Amino acid sequence: MTQDPRMLSAARALARSRRLVVFTGAGVSKESGIATFREPETGLWAQYDPMELATHEAYVRRPEFVWSWYEHRFGAVAAASPNPAHTAIAELERLLPQVSVVTQNIDGLHQRAGSNDVIELHGSMFRFKCLSGEHTGFVLDDFADQDEKPPRCPQCGELLRPDVVWFGEALPADAIDRAQALCADCDVLLVVGTSGVVYPAAAMPLLAAEAGATVIDVNPERDAIAAAAELFLQGPGGEVLPELVVAVREHLAG
Ligand code: APR
Repeated sequence: MTQDPRMLSAARALARSRRLVVFTGAGVSKESGIATFREPETGLWAQYDPMELATHEAYVRRPEFVWSWYEHRFGAVAAASPNPAHTAIAELERLLPQVSVVTQNIDGLHQRAGSNDVIELHGSMFRFKCLSGEHTGFVLDDFADQDEKPPRCPQCGELLRPDVVWFGEALPADAIDRAQALCADCDVLLVVGTSGVVYPAAAMPLLAAEAGATVIDVNPERDAIAAAAELFLQGPGGEVLPELVVAVREHLAG
């Protein structure tokens, strides 16, 4: 078992938690082979211009180009599997009284790893809606018979788009409201794999810290949240979290 004092403190806080929130970003999916956004060279925004791919205007301007980019990302996620970081987070839900995952990710890997209470702040690449946003909740099967790319809304015939939050768009009200309420009420916030620079999502750790929660940050690099965290565990989530879960189990076993 680890002897790292910060890891032991983090495990003690987690083992005692009654209302844990796990707040994640793209880094938690990195070891599943999914690219992050802002890492130098490998990040998506280091290779592509987000204003050409992740805005409503970009989609209206070049729907085929943006749709094909999401198809490419969709393929990468469909071929990926949850990694030990996702699995460890799902394991915490089985060990502790209340665990909610608030994620910025749209890849669905937390759910595939077995986490049951997952709030998707930025939507999901597996859900689709029409460009006006009037008709929502479509899945791939709803337009599998269409050859046209992008497909069209089965209800109104408008272009379909991924039900994700693009730059300049509001987050789903129910998701942000519930996430803020959980973070303002949690006793421990475990942050994994986010640069902490995109608001309002990045405000979650500040909400938790202001409410007196113990904030634990897991990242190979010092991110914008590390300064607000009581415990900064430096390392990849796929290595740190499984070790953390072992230490939590040891605590719970007394
Ligand atoms: N384990 C944990 N964290 C990691 C790992 C790893 N194996 N590898 C990299 N990281 C960290 C990086 O150090 C970085 O701090 O993950 C973080 C990823 O940061 P971003 O690429 O900025 O991703 P994220 O914080 O999720 O971005 C937020 O920005 O573009 C929008 O909608 C997009 O949801 C996204 C939002």
